[in-house]
Amino acid sequence: MTRTVYVNGEYLPETEAKVSIFDRGFLMADGVYEVTTVLDGKLIDFDGHAKRLARSLNELEMKHPVTEEELLAIHRKLVEVNEVEEGLVYLQVTRGAADRDFAYPKDAEPTLVLFTQKKQAVNSPAAKTGISVISLPDIRWGRRDIKTVQLLYPSMGKMAAKAQGADDAWLVEDGFVTEGTSNNAYIVKDGVIITRNLGNEILHGITRAAVLRFAAEAQIKIEERPFTIEEAKAADEAFVTSATTFVLPVTKIDGEAVGTGQVGPIAARLREIYLEESRKTAV
Ligand code: PDD
Repeated sequence: MTRTVYVNGEYLPETEAKVSIFDRGFLMADGVYEVTTVLDGKLIDFDGHAKRLARSLNELEMKHPVTEEELLAIHRKLVEVNEVEEGLVYLQVTRGAADRDFAYPKDAEPTLVLFTQKKQAVNSPAAKTGISVISLPDIRWGRRDIKTVQLLYPSMGKMAAKAQGADDAWLVEDGFVTEGTSNNAYIVKDGVIITRNLGNEILHGITRAAVLRFAAEAQIKIEERPFTIEEAKAADEAFVTSATTFVLPVTKIDGEAVGTGQVGPIAARLREIYLEESRKTAV
């Protein structure tokens, strides 16, 4: 089936959608994005994604192409016309098309593109077995709190992991884990969840915020602080969170089993709670 996609005010078949070759997203990675999960045909954590998008745009002094209400309407329409029950909506805003110049153009109109992707994620086999990660140096830029489309290093990280027979990579800076290539990273020790504190070093995950809220409600202790790979290897459990993976256990780090090497009880419980609670507030 040819998908219907959204480009700058128009709903078009994907084969007819076009963006200028002068678009700064294409030329300079001058763009930001969001990925919102769809479950049962509804959007998970839409409000959080819309707020983070607004923050990314503000940090880069980029125009907001539409209002939050319009954004929700576009998301809903794409989910409906493409009959997405389980999957995601990808959204990208760039500064728009202009003559190539390092300085921001004054008159460019932002480009807004959205498309859907169907994908089974709830019953992912990895949720039962856990995933393996390798550690890699975090050599990304210093404003990882802005969700930009500069994703080459995360792609290289995934490829390096695959080349070593692993699933993903955890990135390490100054001796401490920042986050995964496309997810936030956590360990569990003696019943306490430990995850990197918010700052410019990591993306402020929307799933992270929800999971930490649900964990606190379930009386699970949380420490938001940096941790090392050695501490992670000696932990009882490890897991990652993102819009597309929810809560996903990590059972191996650099070839060494974490805890028992099986999916741990806290990660399993948090995954269940997250799926149940976020479905309740889906729109
Ligand atoms: N990635 N950290 C990074 C570097 C990410 O790219 C992501 C999300 C997260 C988790 O954020 P959230 O919980 O808001 O999805 C953390 C998305 C899913 C992606 O690039 O596909």
